[in-house]
Amino acid sequence: MQEKMQQILDDARRAIEKAASTAELEALRVQLQGKKGSLTQLLRGMGQLSPEERPRMGALINSAREDIARMLETRGAALKKEERARRLREEAVDVTEPRAFAHQGTLHPISLVQAELVDIFTGMGFEVVEGPEVELDTYNFELLNLPKNHPARDAQDSFYIEDNIVLRTHTSPVQARTMLTRKPPIRIVCPGRVYRADELDATHSPVFHQMEGLVVDRDVTMGDLKGTLDAFAQGLFGEGITTRFHPSYFPFTEPSAEVDLTCMACRGKGCRVCKGTGWIEILGCGMVNPRVLSMCGIDPDVYTGFAFGMGLERIAMLKYGISDMRLLYEGDLRFLRQFR
Ligand code: DAH
Repeated sequence: MQEKMQQILDDARRAIEKAASTAELEALRVQLQGKKGSLTQLLRGMGQLSPEERPRMGALINSAREDIARMLETRGAALKKEERARRLREEAVDVTEPRAFAHQGTLHPISLVQAELVDIFTGMGFEVVEGPEVELDTYNFELLNLPKNHPARDAQDSFYIEDNIVLRTHTSPVQARTMLTRKPPIRIVCPGRVYRADELDATHSPVFHQMEGLVVDRDVTMGDLKGTLDAFAQGLFGEGITTRFHPSYFPFTEPSAEVDLTCMACRGKGCRVCKGTGWIEILGCGMVNPRVLSMCGIDPDVYTGFAFGMGLERIAMLKYGISDMRLLYEGDLRFLRQFR
C-alpha cells in the first residue's frame, strides 16, 4: 500500500510538472483531489488494514495529500506568472511604431484665395462684412443706381426668386447694406458667392465668387484707390506687379475703371497667359457714384468713396495656373489635394 502511494505521488508530481497551462492544471487538480482521485480511493481501502497499521497509513496519506496540494499551488503560481508575462508580451502596443498617416483634408483653392485676399485687405485696415445670397432687388440693383429697365441689368442675367427677390448677381449689394447702416469712415471687403444665369464652361459658372471692396470717408480720392490696388496686387503676386487703369462703365461708380495687373506669368514680358500684352485684366472699380452715396444716406458733399469688385475664380486660376474653371467645382481629389 505504501508502495502504491509512493507511485501515486510520483505520478502526480510528473503530471503536475507537465501541465502546460492553468487550465490543464485545474483539470489535473480535479482528477487528483476529487472523489475519484487515486488518493481518495486509497483512503477508502484503509478499512482493510489492521488497526495498528491504520493510523500510520492515515498519516502518510494525509501528508501525501498535503504534498500534492503544495505542488499544485507552486506549479499554479508559476503557470499564472508565465501566462501573464506571455499575454503582456503578445498584447504589447509599440507606441513608437510609425503608422500610415490618416488622410488630411485640404482647403479649396477658392477658400485659399479668399483667405489670402482677406488677409491682405485686413492688413490695410479693412474689415470683412458679409451679406445674404438671396437678396432684395433694392440692394442688388436699385440702390446701386440700376433702376428697373436700366439696360445694365441685362448684362447680369439674374436668377429671380420672386418679383423683387433675386440671387445676388454680385457682392456689391453689401456696399449698399453697409452704407445704410453705418457712418463713415467705412473700409470693408465683402467676399461671397454670387449667381448668374450663365452656362458652365471653361471661364463661366452660374455660381461663382467675388470680393467687393468699399472705402467711404472724407477726402477719399482716386489716388487712394490706385494706391490700395497697387498694394493689393503686390501683396497677392509679389514685387514688381503694378496696376493699369482704363476707363470703363459701372452704374454705381463714376468715374469707373477696369484694372489690369502686370502679367504674373511673364512679369510683363508678354506670354500666352496675357496674349502677348503683358497685362491681365482683373477687376472693376471706381469712385462711388454720388447718387449711390445719397441713396444710401451718405452726404456726397461731405464724403467720397471708392469701390472695387473682383472674381475669386479668375484670381485662383491665374495664381495657380488653372486653365479650366470647371476643375474648381468638380471635386476631383487628385486636383484638390494639390492645394495645401
Ligand atoms: N459688381 C461688379 C460686377 O459684378 C464688379 C464691380 C465693379 C464692383 C466696379 C465694384 C465696382 O464695386 O466699383 O461685375
